Amino acid sequence: MKPLQLIQRALTLVLGTALPLAALQAAPSAPKAWVTGQRIQQADKEPGNWLSHGRTYDEQRYSPLKQVTDGNVKQLGIAWTQKLDWDFGVEATPIVVDGVMYTTGPYSIVYAFDAATGKPLWRFDPEVPRDKGGEGCCSVVNRGVAVWEGKVYVGAFDGRLIALDARHGKKLWSVDTRLDPNKSYTITGAPRVVKGQVLIGNGGAEFGVRGYLTAYDARSGKPSWRFFTVPGDPSKPPENEAMRMALKTWDGNGWVKWGGGGTVWDAMAYDPDLDLLYIGVGNGSPFNYQFRSNGKGDNLFLSSIVALRPSTGEYVWHYQTTPGEMWDYTATQHMILADLQIEGKPRKVLMQAPKNGFFYVLDRTNGQLLSAEKFVPVNWASHIDMKTGRPVLTGAANYLDGQGMKIVMPSFLGGHNWQPMSYHPGTGLVYLPAQETAAGLEPQKEPMFLPIRNVVNIGLDVPSLPEDPAVVKQIAQSWKGKLLAWDPIKQKAAWQVDYPTAWNGGTLATAGNLVFQGTADGRAVAYAADTGKLLWSMPVNSGAMAGPVTYTVKGEQYVAFMVGWGGSFPNITGQLSLGAKVKAEARVVTFKLGGTTTLPPPKMTAAALPPLETVTADAATLQIGRTMFNGLCANCHGLNAVSGGVVPDLRYLTPEKHQIFLGIVYGARTARGMPAFSGLLKPDDVEVLRQYILHRAHALKAELIPAASPPPSP
Ligand code: HEC
Repeated sequence: MKPLQLIQRALTLVLGTALPLAALQAAPSAPKAWVTGQRIQQADKEPGNWLSHGRTYDEQRYSPLKQVTDGNVKQLGIAWTQKLDWDFGVEATPIVVDGVMYTTGPYSIVYAFDAATGKPLWRFDPEVPRDKGGEGCCSVVNRGVAVWEGKVYVGAFDGRLIALDARHGKKLWSVDTRLDPNKSYTITGAPRVVKGQVLIGNGGAEFGVRGYLTAYDARSGKPSWRFFTVPGDPSKPPENEAMRMALKTWDGNGWVKWGGGGTVWDAMAYDPDLDLLYIGVGNGSPFNYQFRSNGKGDNLFLSSIVALRPSTGEYVWHYQTTPGEMWDYTATQHMILADLQIEGKPRKVLMQAPKNGFFYVLDRTNGQLLSAEKFVPVNWASHIDMKTGRPVLTGAANYLDGQGMKIVMPSFLGGHNWQPMSYHPGTGLVYLPAQETAAGLEPQKEPMFLPIRNVVNIGLDVPSLPEDPAVVKQIAQSWKGKLLAWDPIKQKAAWQVDYPTAWNGGTLATAGNLVFQGTADGRAVAYAADTGKLLWSMPVNSGAMAGPVTYTVKGEQYVAFMVGWGGSFPNITGQLSLGAKVKAEARVVTFKLGGTTTLPPPKMTAAALPPLETVTADAATLQIGRTMFNGLCANCHGLNAVSGGVVPDLRYLTPEKHQIFLGIVYGARTARGMPAFSGLLKPDDVEVLRQYILHRAHALKAELIPAASPPPSP
């Protein structure tokens, strides 16, 4: 008799009835994952687990594990790997509890794997409609789950917060977090759980939403509080004192129509001793400060770090990094809490390197600025005035001065974006995935507000990326990625590593004197934490952007990378990314000492251009085609129809696909992630788009033909 049948018989004897065998077979497939606040607060007692997003509530992404060290890291090989469902950007930080890894992929799909073998335990697909991608700025990405008292929480791209049973991934409850279901609210961030409440914000500031953070009871999903980050309609009473204060910093009421922005789309941190929750607040909606607030006022709490009481959502303090934000300078970037010795005194600090290019060290008890220095080239401000805590503007990036387009440094991609940094208490350094970027911004004369969800509305044109390949090459060379080992006390880099492009991965620091990082050029690498010496490098086939994690199972240390190229940089600015030779692929790749698993060879994209029909549109029509393409399609297919290897490069469309072009644009591929534009574009418009794509394909063909070889020298 099989064990299961034995149990059934025993139960029959005890209960007098036979339980159906199926009920017994549905026994838990994963352990209970009983994570509590106490466990997270004492995470260092169980370094083999990775219990919350930044491992600890202070989000240091530092692991005390030291089986893998600077001495043996060369022996790291692949322990196991698992492919994910969709090959779009992967940004998740896995949570590892008692031998099980809980992680997410594109479309907010949740996966539970045996953390030692990679065996899939369960998978939960929230079934986000596949054509929703156009409702967010930066693809259907997700930054991971939270685990608490046997439940796994995921924020779905369409705005739902969902609780699953950690044992088998069955849905327990689901709430719609959107303020207004008619607006483009999305979720890409990882929830955090503090004091029995699940905290989640959202995205959508490029689509006219109002930002907030909501707390839900972790057991029931009942909403407990909501903190708005920008004021609502000034003709109605403000929701609370914080909103009364914020309202005074806005002018007119332009933002009411545009939403205001200030979405809390990524970073949070928590200090249990101070009982303060820190949230990072995003950019204005629209970017254009004139349309939003007549170009006046600080516009609280845009681009701010705000400290709240986690039980009530009550405001405690804020620090605004970019008053009157007008460049998409989110302060949603990763925040690290640490205790530093500053001028001989121990200080409880909060560190952030937001998009605006300054590295901030704040006193986290009260929000006081302790120091701020540039970590990449910056042209919008000369420095931060230490008396007022405010940036001193140069005017160089002020596109509202009537002089037209301005080059802004850093660009909207930021000196640092969502890729998490880490802090090593031993070296005292912050390992910061930084990037040098610049982009032109030009104000629109009238707000081109399109009341549809698939179109970004920022009130600015981004004309900076020309079609001319020589100019593009120049820009691409000036856009650099770097890993900075930043000394937060001296406010300068102790060492740095240069990368050929922006958009390299988040970092992990370990007690083995190591810093792990994924790279845009498709590698997993490790450096010596103290010197920056490259100690280990392995190809992983696709750009790796997410923050790696490390854990142990049965005493053996693993390092896991969530691999998968995508998000705003390759999707929108494909021209500046490494080119589309390798197709993006999404998978988990986990390493251990002596691992021997191998990856399949990378998938290559089309090498040769298919035969091209002649362009029949005139130059003026092609110009309209370019504007339409860059307004409607470039968010995924890349500016000027050059893709970064994630979404198809339309210059390579075959004659057969050109035949069915209208059908595809009208919705034939919605199930594969291509939105339907049937409601928006007339067949004539679609033909203009197709002509533009053809024109770009011919331009590529001309570029690919090698220049005639010089005559042989006499
Ligand atoms: C939200 C992202 C998104 C936007 C915006 C978008 N697309 Fe797509 N598109 C996709 C994805 C994803 C695919 C791949 C679908 C598949 O795998 O079949 C695709 C495929 C296509 C294809 C077929 C390509 C092929 O090789 O099979 C065409 C043609 C196309 N898109 C045209 C457009 C045009 C024109 C626009 C603008 C009007 C546009 N797309 C806007 C995501 C997008």
